[in-house]
Amino acid sequence: MKVTVVGAGAVGATCADNIARSAVCQELVLLDIKEGLAEGKAQDMMQTAALLGFDTRITGSTNDYSKTAGSDVVVITSGIPRKPGMTREELIGTNAGIVKGVCENLLKHSPDAIVIVISNPMDTMTYLALQSTGLPKHRIIGMGGTLDSSRFKYQLSLRLGCSPADLNAVVIGGHGDTTMIPLIRFATWNSIPVTSFLSAEQQQQIVADTMVGGATLTKLIGTSAWYAPGAAGAALVASILRDEKKLFTCCVSLDGEYGQKDICLGVPVTIGRNGWERILPMDLNEEEKALFAKSAEAVRSMNDVLKTL
Ligand code: 2OP
Repeated sequence: MKVTVVGAGAVGATCADNIARSAVCQELVLLDIKEGLAEGKAQDMMQTAALLGFDTRITGSTNDYSKTAGSDVVVITSGIPRKPGMTREELIGTNAGIVKGVCENLLKHSPDAIVIVISNPMDTMTYLALQSTGLPKHRIIGMGGTLDSSRFKYQLSLRLGCSPADLNAVVIGGHGDTTMIPLIRFATWNSIPVTSFLSAEQQQQIVADTMVGGATLTKLIGTSAWYAPGAAGAALVASILRDEKKLFTCCVSLDGEYGQKDICLGVPVTIGRNGWERILPMDLNEEEKALFAKSAEAVRSMNDVLKTL
């Protein structure tokens, strides 16, 4: 199995590092436009192989897509990250051109690859990848909800004093500070509803903190986060290559599901060897349905910006 990660910045490199450690592929190519960056980071990671005991061969490439040929999965992290005070949406002008070009180059050499999109604004970049490549919809997966759901579990674990791994909780909708929807009503602590342990005020605070999870880190670090985004991308790669059929929230093309069409938005899906395989329905109440519709409206207006670029 072969995986390519495009973008050797913090998110791409962390994603590659996690993929190598999980030993799900024999070959891993890290590619970047900056001369030497991907080669250097690939070598650095390979120098952990003896210590960590993995067998994945990681190589770096400065923009030579022929090295990525025959990849089973490609992960796109390219583009500029946001700075403190910026929204993910403000990146669209620069990142749309980058993501489109990267998709074209990748698919020339790996026509059967499954594509995971991490670049921001993630929902619109996923839609762009789908539109510009014309690939079957099951092969285009946006990572956002996987990350946001993990951040939601973290926030819940702080208040509950429990292990994040014992929690089931999903964030659906867009991957924007105001478009994501942490579904606290559905969240459970090993099957017990978390709402039975938390006051209404605590619940509201957890939801609010989850929604600004990325922005909070950008403010603290000075650029956008990478450990959790990288780990989220790698978890999706593992589920594809091992055909795990794990349930994640991912940004996928909707064709009537959740009342939406012609849009890529975060919903619960199983991830396996065919990409995203099933969209799972959730019995949303009126308020949650309205939030989802509002999120779709915001993402759709961002998608419309693509036409003006
Ligand atoms: C984040 O939320 C990078 O969009 C990513 O941290």
